[in-house]
This record gives sequence, C-alpha cells and structure tokens, in this order.
Amino acid sequence: MTSKRTRSLAAADQAFVWHPFTQMNDWLSDDPLIIDAADGFDLIDTEGRRYLDGVSSLWVSVHGHRVPEIDDAIRAQLDRVAHSTLLGLGGAPSIELAERLVALAPPGITKVFFSEAGAAAVEVGLKMAFGYWQHRGVTTKRTFLALEEAYHGDTLGAVSVGGMQMFHDAYRPLLFDVFRVPSPYVSDEASLARAEEILRDHAAEICAFVLEPLVQGAAGMLTAQPGYLRKVRELCDRYDVLLICDEVATGIGRTGTFFACEQEDVSPDILVCGKGLSGGYLPIAATMTTQAVFDAFLAPYDAFKTFFHGHTYTGNALACAAAIANLDLMAARSTVDGVREREAVLAKMLEPLEGNPHVYEIRQRGLMVGIDLRASGETFYDTAERVGHRVILEARKRGVIIRPLSDVIVLMPPLAIPIDELQRLARVTIESIDAVTA
Ligand SMILES: Cc1ncc(COP(=O)(O)O)c(C=O)c1O
Repeated sequence: MTSKRTRSLAAADQAFVWHPFTQMNDWLSDDPLIIDAADGFDLIDTEGRRYLDGVSSLWVSVHGHRVPEIDDAIRAQLDRVAHSTLLGLGGAPSIELAERLVALAPPGITKVFFSEAGAAAVEVGLKMAFGYWQHRGVTTKRTFLALEEAYHGDTLGAVSVGGMQMFHDAYRPLLFDVFRVPSPYVSDEASLARAEEILRDHAAEICAFVLEPLVQGAAGMLTAQPGYLRKVRELCDRYDVLLICDEVATGIGRTGTFFACEQEDVSPDILVCGKGLSGGYLPIAATMTTQAVFDAFLAPYDAFKTFFHGHTYTGNALACAAAIANLDLMAARSTVDGVREREAVLAKMLEPLEGNPHVYEIRQRGLMVGIDLRASGETFYDTAERVGHRVILEARKRGVIIRPLSDVIVLMPPLAIPIDELQRLARVTIESIDAVTA
C-alpha cells in the first residue's frame, strides 16, 4: 500500500512537472518513482525503498551521494558566500578550481571559462572557436566539422553540431549547417578519409572539428578505434582547424584517465567538461582553452573583441567548492586508478551476456558501458516493443536504477562504487536482460 505522501507527491508531479526526454503521455499513465533521499551509492524513494544508482544520476556521481567531505565543503562555503558574480569580480573558489583544472588538463590548456551545463559549455566552445578566427581576420571560417551520431547537448548550437536524427530532426529549420563525417564507430578509416576530403576542400570555411573523444555517449556508447583521435588532431593541425573535445561525458575520470584525450596524448584547442566535475552535486561545467585562443580576444575595448558571453551563475561559489572537494577526494583516493580496476571487474562480470543471442555487442571504456540489444543479428527491435525500457523496469524491481538509450542498456556507475555493488549491478543487469529477451 503506497503512503499518502507518495500519492500526493505523485499527483502533484503529474500535475505540474514536465520531465526531460520523457514522453509525458507514458509518464502520466504510470506510477512515478519519486526519489526522496540518498545514502552512499543508493537512492531512496518516498516509500523508503533503496535502489543502487547505476547511472550515477545521469553520469555525474563520482564518490556516491552524501559524501561527508563534499557536504562539509559546501556547508563551509555557505558560511562565506553562496554566489557572487564573475562578471567584473573575482571569486575565491572559482580561482582555485580554474588553477586545479589547468593542472589536470593536457599540456597547452591555460584558461578556464565556467558555465552551469554541458550544453552551455559546448556553446561557449563553439563561440570561442568562431571568435578566434574572426578576431584574427579569418572571416571565411564560419562553420564546423562534426560527427554523425554526435551529441553535444540540447541548446541550438549544440544541436547544430549534434547528429542524432531522433532528437534533432524536428528542429532542423532552426539549426546552422555543418560539415559532417561518419562516426568512427562505423569505420574510423572512412571517418578519417571523409574528414580529410572535406578539410582539403573546405578548411577555409571551418573553425573547428568538434567531437566526443573515445566514446560517443548518448548515441549508445559508440566507441572509436584507438588512434582515431590522434589522427584527427593531425588533420586539424595540417588544415589549420581547431580541435574541440567535448568531454562532458568522458571527462573527470570516466574512461580511466582524468580526460579521455590523454589516452592518445592529444591536447585539444578547446576542452569541454561538466557532469562529474562537482562529483554529482551542483551544476557546473567548464570550457578550457589555450593561450592562443584567449589572446585572440585581447584588444582595446573599443575594438569589440571582448568575449560577449556569460551566464548569471557562471563560477557559482557553492558549485566550485563542491568541485574542489571532489577533485581533492579523487586525488586522495586515486579514484581514476580505481576506475581502471573496476573497468576490468565489470567487463568480466558481463561476459555471460555474450551467450545471449539478443546481445549484439557490449561496448565499454572505463566505467562507461553500452549493452546493445537487438532482435536478432544486426536487426533492431521494433521501437514500439520498448525493450530497453522494459529491461530497466525489471532492474528497478530488483533494486537497481539504470536508464537505456533506446535499446542500449547503459551502465555508468559512480566512479568509486564498491566492487561488491558493481558486481550486483552487473548481476541485476544480466537477470533483467534475460527476463525481457528470453
Ligand atoms: C558529450 C556531451 N556533451 C554535452 C552534454 C550536455 O550536457 P548537459 O546535459 O549538462 O547540458 C552531454 C550530456 O549528456 C554529453 O554527453
């Protein structure tokens, strides 16, 4: 029997809240699960039931929930100031965080611009790249090179460089045109060959090549071959085009190095991160860049080269304090090394799925996993069957929260998840897939 409080919250949710990426028709006909609290790696609903947070609350949680060190850092910051603007003023936590991020970033990155969401940070990166060329007098460079299947967030610039038909087609009339190359998941050689062809003919029109390094997350954890990113960097250098690495999903340790581009010794011109930066506590994202990009905006005020961009809560003190505490803990606990250990444990645990004829492929980099379910061979399930959705409902019955991308079951546990909990996540996932696909 559901409690009166749960029923009343559910009714109010259905009356007033519009949920993101949710067909509200379905939502309104279901009983919503309402999270009320958390404890370590578990979320707790309004009935007191516990669920393992198997997708890190949308890919953000690092050390779990209610981490004493991060809670204390936010409380201490509250006793100083919750927010002051970075427009015309410095703020102590944002200064410390910027310095820390530059130390962690690949060589050549020297400047940090803060915002509150990955999409906003991508917009900042696109505008920085565009402005860089314009201010240097290269006014023909007005568009971008991007990957098919890319996802960079939901604002219109990010959607323009995004390449996911299902999400983006409806808004096509609002978007700017970009040059597009095949996903390296399909073929890294074809992707590179097409990129080179486009660059040979159109480099003079292209500000930057923007991509998610190593893994195209929202497209279903589509992995690139090792070496692809390095070759992209070489192409960008050869044709004088900037490289923007969107590490909103892959950054902050997720793939087993602090930034994914480290794995190929690549320094991008612009590096975007967000999600796990505050350990999953508060919204903060960062667009980092080189001295050369920064310098292109330096001029007398009346030359109007100022970077005219900013968000009200840019560099919010509480979010920066949470991020610093998160980075401190990651360093003290060698969290990134722990990701590599957990990567191997999870891969091993998921091996039994290889015998399931409906598992087309398991794609993994670090603690970023996509289990691609298909009807048979390469044939997709009928969308109406909602196989991915049914699998996550089975997992929920077994006390685990996961969220699919269509019929790709995503596992994105908090980076510091205890090994036994990671094993439980894998076991429940296998049982849930078997229950639906049998
Ligand atoms: C690679 C990538 N870029 C950008 C974003 C957008 O981030 P946000 O949802 O914080 O706007 C996401 C979100 O999943 C992402 O995966």
